[in-house]
Amino acid sequence: MPIAKDEVGRLATTFNEMLDKLEAFIKKERQFSSDASHELRTPISIISAQAQQALAGKRGTNEYISSLKSILKESKKMSYIITQLLMLYRSDEGKYDLNFEPLDLNLITEEVVNEYKNISIEKGIGINFRMAGNIKIKADQTLITRLLINLIDNAINYNKKGGKVDVEILNENNMAKIIIEDNGVGISSEDIPYVFDRFYQADSARNGHGTGLGLSIVKWIVDVHKGDISVESEINKGTRFTVKLPLSV
Ligand SMILES: Nc1ncnc2c1ncn2[C@@H]1O[C@H](COP(=O)(O)OP(=O)(O)OP(=O)(O)O)[C@@H](O)[C@H]1O
Ligand SMILES: [Mg+2]
Repeated sequence: MPIAKDEVGRLATTFNEMLDKLEAFIKKERQFSSDASHELRTPISIISAQAQQALAGKRGTNEYISSLKSILKESKKMSYIITQLLMLYRSDEGKYDLNFEPLDLNLITEEVVNEYKNISIEKGIGINFRMAGNIKIKADQTLITRLLINLIDNAINYNKKGGKVDVEILNENNMAKIIIEDNGVGISSEDIPYVFDRFYQADSARNGHGTGLGLSIVKWIVDVHKGDISVESEINKGTRFTVKLPLSV
């Protein structure tokens, strides 16, 4: 039976859409590999420059110590980037081994907040935690811990001296709700749509310690748990991230 004209048209449109999607995907992949190698190249060049400088002639102990410190710092950064990239790579390939189990969200959050107590005191930032009674989720513990670390780490890093971070767990409409709020530097409305993109950093964060991968990992973790994440922010006022996760039934 001959194919009707409008059917050919529909087929052509479908093909075109498919090709557009494929092209966008390839572009994104290329961009990702080039960003990844750029991020890794910077610490490698610092490490080799520091080593060369230290070996160039006889130096004082302090200079050797300073070179070694910077080599250590950059190696740690590289190891962080590689770990995060590996996690994203596995997630893209659908190869990440998820291990869903019943978890007490209050307990996990409290542990992460406690881990950050000293760091936040050192930075002159207060951190508070408010929990709700008995919130159980069915989730991967490693990933939920990573989600909390990445969000709390941002709330502390993009803060100001004397600032605060409020972490709250709620049970709302049969969803577990995690709110992480800070009164730090904030994110501009131009930057907000891109903060979950890989390697994206707002101007205020460039030249800092991060690589722009933290929130893209958070987004992936929320997605595999069939949850939802939203962000509200005002420049110089602060930022609030809200994560919703299904409660365990
Ligand atoms: N709480 C926050 N307050 C202000 N800006 C934020 C906050 N959280 C994220 N951002 C902005 O969003 C960008 C992306 O965050 P993300 O966590 O993905 O990357 P990063 O912190 O720069 O690096 P990484 O987390 O990989 O170490 C940050 O660079 C920063 O500009
Ligand atoms: Mg971060």
